[in-house]
Amino acid sequence: MNTVEKYREYVNTSMLTGVVPVVFERAEGATVFGEDGRKYLDCFAGISVTNAGHGNPEVLDAARAQLGRYVHCCSYVYYNKPMADLAEKLARITPGRLKKSFFTSGGAEAMEGAMRMAKTYTGKREFIALQASFHGRTYATLSITGNCARKKRAGPYMPGVSFAPVPYCYRCAFGLEPETCGTRCAEYVEDIIRFDTYNDIAAFVAEPVLGEGGIIVPPEPYFKKVKEVLDRHGILLFIDEVQTGFARTGKMFAIEHYGVEPDIMAMAKGIANGFPLGAFIAPDDIADSFQPGEHLSTFGGNPVSCAAGLASINFLEREKMADQATAKGNRFKEGLNKLRAKHPVIGDVRGKGLMIGVELVKDKAKTPASNEAAAVRKSCLEKGLLIGLGGVLGNVLRIQPPLVIGEAQLEEALAIVDKSLAEL
Ligand SMILES: Cc1ncc(COP(=O)(O)O)c(C=O)c1O
Repeated sequence: MNTVEKYREYVNTSMLTGVVPVVFERAEGATVFGEDGRKYLDCFAGISVTNAGHGNPEVLDAARAQLGRYVHCCSYVYYNKPMADLAEKLARITPGRLKKSFFTSGGAEAMEGAMRMAKTYTGKREFIALQASFHGRTYATLSITGNCARKKRAGPYMPGVSFAPVPYCYRCAFGLEPETCGTRCAEYVEDIIRFDTYNDIAAFVAEPVLGEGGIIVPPEPYFKKVKEVLDRHGILLFIDEVQTGFARTGKMFAIEHYGVEPDIMAMAKGIANGFPLGAFIAPDDIADSFQPGEHLSTFGGNPVSCAAGLASINFLEREKMADQATAKGNRFKEGLNKLRAKHPVIGDVRGKGLMIGVELVKDKAKTPASNEAAAVRKSCLEKGLLIGLGGVLGNVLRIQPPLVIGEAQLEEALAIVDKSLAEL
């Protein structure tokens, strides 16, 4: 049996049907070499993970060196130097007073741990999250996920979660225009608190740019206005940087675009360039609400992953990858905007840095073109380009390449998207 056949037979998989599978043989930078002998241009980075590039030599060297020392110790029973070093680094690069990290094996586990910490610190039990959001696939993280497509057939979920309108300007819940709306969606959080909760709210949880929901970029004043509301009610701002972190959006963390300091932040994906790791971070007073030993993870803070993480962050900083993401992303968006004139199916082009969404619509009424989006993704893959697909309506193409991608590669990607759209 080959790999695809073994998957069909033995892997309990959520692999989408109808998608031509690529079997990875090896990968380098933004290029994936398939077992089929073909070369693919990677504009999805394993869902926004390999920010420093596949096979980054500095990251691999750090991981190899740690592999030769020891692979596991349980970082919450014995001391692990790479984890301590990474924790110190995160304290330096995260905004404001964020200082003490708890390390996990991935994103959902980081989100759950942070939810527990928010409850422990505040003594309150409820959460407010955003419609269209995505925070993971465990029970608690699905409970705060507002994207219903991701929650099907597994409810009922945790009580005590209310959803605020998503700041999705292209499809504004209030039918307003961004220039004149006064950020009504941010003000509405006050109404949610007043009418939808029992006033026992630990935290307001949000992605600074919604990834799975369709690369939705909240307008500039959004988080400042929400923070004002939260401060009036003593509610923590808990930011999920799992998909947006580590230079992806043109800042080390996407919330920095909005000039507010989160009380809690979760991260994973790009943290260690593909080695499994997640973390949540908080200022001393919030972090210290956990008593010693109260929260633990057997694999969390794996030493090899932490060593890789530190090397990856050093690489991102030294190579000014955040600035590169901004410059490359702006040029790519310019190119996409030019394609809009040619392909009326492109309804909206949006994003920050190299986190770009292209929303496809059937008509001026913005009827979602989800089948068309799936067809474009498939056609791109057949032409050697890997892109993502998402959005609450399933009609958003997602461009989230390794940040080391070259200008010529981005031009090639644009040309393939152009051809695939033309085929519709
Ligand atoms: C914003 C966000 N939060 C949390 C998660 C869950 O992370 P993981 O898949 O590592 O559990 C994801 C995964 O896509 C995500 O995009």
